[in-house]
Formats: sequence, structure tokens, C-alpha cells
Amino acid sequence: MKSLKERILELKKEKNAVILAHYYQEADIQDIADYVGDSLGLSQEAMKVDADIILFAGVHFMAETAKILNPTKKVILPDLKAGCSLAESCPPDLFKKFTDEHPDHIVITYVNCSAEIKALSDIVCTSSNALKIVESIPKETPIIFAPDKNLGKYIISETGRDMLLWDGSCVVHEAFSLDKLIEVHKQYPDAKIIAHPESETHILQTASYIGSTAGMIEYVKTNPNNKFIVATEAGILHKMQQEVPHKILIPAPAKDDNTCACSECGYMKMNTLQKVYDCLLRESPEIDVPENIRKKALIPIERMLELSK
Ligand code: 13P
Ligand code: SF4
Repeated sequence: MKSLKERILELKKEKNAVILAHYYQEADIQDIADYVGDSLGLSQEAMKVDADIILFAGVHFMAETAKILNPTKKVILPDLKAGCSLAESCPPDLFKKFTDEHPDHIVITYVNCSAEIKALSDIVCTSSNALKIVESIPKETPIIFAPDKNLGKYIISETGRDMLLWDGSCVVHEAFSLDKLIEVHKQYPDAKIIAHPESETHILQTASYIGSTAGMIEYVKTNPNNKFIVATEAGILHKMQQEVPHKILIPAPAKDDNTCACSECGYMKMNTLQKVYDCLLRESPEIDVPENIRKKALIPIERMLELSK
């Protein structure tokens, strides 16, 4: 009898579909994907897809971004409830009110937000290009940055720009415990700490490297050190370990003990191999973005992609 993975690969061929997966997906899903990457890489890849169907193994805002960039393709997501605490923290009506109160501000939004929020933005960014995007704005222009206050604080500390921040955060990156991290570092004093910029300031202050998921993998590959404590969602360890099989990777510990003694994204983990199969078979749930929103949301995403070349 064929395995579930084999049946997915057959169905993918039959349906002329591609699977794009984020590094936080469970290992089995990453293994059957055509492309695994960070938010920027996934957007760039989605734009180039020529197949009929994009199965997005990630969360809702990522699948929506793929649909905005490549609207003639059918974009499907294994579980429509796969959301994001950052996207949920930023309701369009409240955000519109906030931006209307500051009409002189340029609105920069982190890609982890809904299509409606992108449609209210001047330019989008991801964690891999946020510093570059903010630095591209003339110094005298005031900036609203949303929805991630932790990424916002990090950008302020790096660029010296005084930005107005929306009060959103990632529950997964706020789960890291500084006390436990210090304890782990005492056990592995020669390990370098690397962190995603969605983490809180006190975690980032301990890090030798701060960057996107793709940036963190690249750092571990190119840095001569042999041990790393990794402060981001634990799914990243799968691809990272494949890239550096002889290096020791230690997940940063979360405040509350959970199954992996690390931090996992419950939204990302809603997608399972079985749901990927069912979703491909039924070509559903499908992502739909109203055309008026899509057109408006496309402009700030295209500005970001242009600046990321
Ligand atoms: P990147 O993969 O772009 O670093 O983003 C991390 C993340 O939290 C995605 O939801
Ligand atoms: Fe959202 Fe955080 Fe999960 Fe990424 S890890 S999808 S930012 S909740």
C-alpha cells in the first residue's frame, strides 16, 4: 500500500499543483514541498508559479499573499483556521482609524497581516528586508509600523528612526524565557544565540545574530561556530539540521513547559500531512481575495519586492 506522502506526490502531479511550505511546517510536509522558505522567498516563489494550483503549507496571510501576487492560480490552504496572532491583533477598522489620525505618516506593514491591512499600507516588509525598507524612507517622513511591536522596536534600535508602533506581537516568539535561555547558555557556553526579530528585546539583546528564518539558516551554515541556541519556532530545526548535520542546534526554551520544551506555532501546526492530501483531493479550502482589496494590497507588496531585488 502506498504511503500518504506517495499519494500526495501522485495527486500533486495529476492536478498540476505545487506545494510551497514555510520552515515552521512539520518535517513531513517540508519533505514533500517543491519549495521551503521564509516569507519573502515564498512570496517571490508564489509569483513565479506556472502550475494550476498552489497548495500553501503555511498560514492564512501567506496563502493570501500568494493569491494577491498570482491571482489566476487556485490557491488552497490545508486548514483555513491556520491564522497568526500578529494578523489577528490588527483589525482593519481600528487600523484605518489609527492611520486616519496620522495622515502625514507613511504606513509600513509587516507581511504578517491580512489583505485588508496590506490594502491600507504604503509598503510591506518581511523580517528579511524590514531594515532596508525602513531605511529607504526619507528621514524627515514619519512612519507608522504595524502590527509587530517587537520587530518595530528592533528596527527603531537599529535605524534610530522614531516610528509609531501598533501593539501586536507573535505569541510564539514572546513565549521564550530569558531565565531559561541563560541557564541553557551556561550549559553550552560556547554556543551562539541566534534569534528571530519577532522576539522580545531582552531575548534579542543576548543574540549574536538576528534575522529571518532563511537568514538564521544561512548564518548557521556560514558561521564557523559548531553550537547554536535557536530562538524561533522549532520547525526551523528540520531544514537547519539538514544543512549542518554535524553542528549542534539547541532550541531556545519557552516559559511554560510544553511538548517540545521549545516554542511551536499552533497555527502553523494545524496543517498535517492528511489535511494536505484532503486539500489537494478536494481543491479546497480555497483562498479568495476580493478584487478591489487585491489590487490595493498588491501595490505595497510590489514596492517591497522591487526594493528587495
Ligand atoms: P520569516 O520566515 O519571514 O522569518 O517569518 C517568520 C514568521 O513568523 C512567519 O510567520
Ligand atoms: Fe504568526 Fe508567530 Fe505563528 Fe509566525 S510564528 S505565524 S508570527 S503566530
